[in-house]
Amino acid sequence: MFKVSHLASGYGQSEVIHDVNLSVEKQEIVAVMGRNGMGKTTLFKTLMGILPMRGGSISIDGQEVGAMESYQRVASGVAYVPQGRMIFPNMTVLENIQTGLPANAQGKVPEELYALFPVLYDMRGRKGGNLSGGQQQQLAIARALATNPKVLLLDEPTEGIQPSIIKDIAKSLKEIRKLRQLTIIVSEQVLSFTLEIADRFFVIDKGRFVYEDTRAHVDAATISRYLSV
Ligand SMILES: Nc1ncnc2c1ncn2[C@@H]1O[C@H](COP(=O)(O)OP(=O)(O)OP(=O)(O)O)[C@@H](O)[C@H]1O
Ligand SMILES: [Mg+2]
Repeated sequence: MFKVSHLASGYGQSEVIHDVNLSVEKQEIVAVMGRNGMGKTTLFKTLMGILPMRGGSISIDGQEVGAMESYQRVASGVAYVPQGRMIFPNMTVLENIQTGLPANAQGKVPEELYALFPVLYDMRGRKGGNLSGGQQQQLAIARALATNPKVLLLDEPTEGIQPSIIKDIAKSLKEIRKLRQLTIIVSEQVLSFTLEIADRFFVIDKGRFVYEDTRAHVDAATISRYLSV
């Protein structure tokens, strides 16, 4: 349902993403693994329209979105949790989530979101900046889910987060995938986390996909090698 073909993008003179092809099914969780500087964020920014693509195509359910502005892609069903979370520190938890809600929700947060992340309900009146890193990550995910996406892009969600909360996030993502038939594409350097949630694995190396396998056949040693060079 989400299809990327021959995607290229970059900054100024330099091309960073080269010929990326990716086809993700409804309700599938795909991991894009790669170490620092290999192009994960650049790829996600291109998928989200924050960075223009230089070639290729991006489609959702057959609809081409590669030329659309970011807000139009959100309306077409793509949501993005950026690296570093980027929540609004001076707004409350509730207000942060509300920024993701469509106008017709009239500011009412679906029960389901609080059920997924109970800590956000408990802390709804607190400023986002006062939450722990893990709680901020949960908030960033809830804010993205508030847009009611078909495809959720998560850029290194476990970065700087303690192991117990990483487990909670893995559990919530699997739950929401089922609940909403959500497709998830997650970039990561932490293999234990993606082994927990992903159906399929890719490795990105210098802006190219160099490895692909399904959960059943995944070669953890090979992926680890790419991550540790
Ligand atoms: N704004 C920018 N202008 C120019 N080059 C950039 C910019 N952002 C990233 N790059 C370069 O693009 C390449 C890919 O960077 P990117 O941030 O996509 O990697 P990443 O896989 O997300 O790394 P990390 O795991 O550290 O987040 C790197 O060589 C980086 O130096
Ligand atoms: Mg990055």
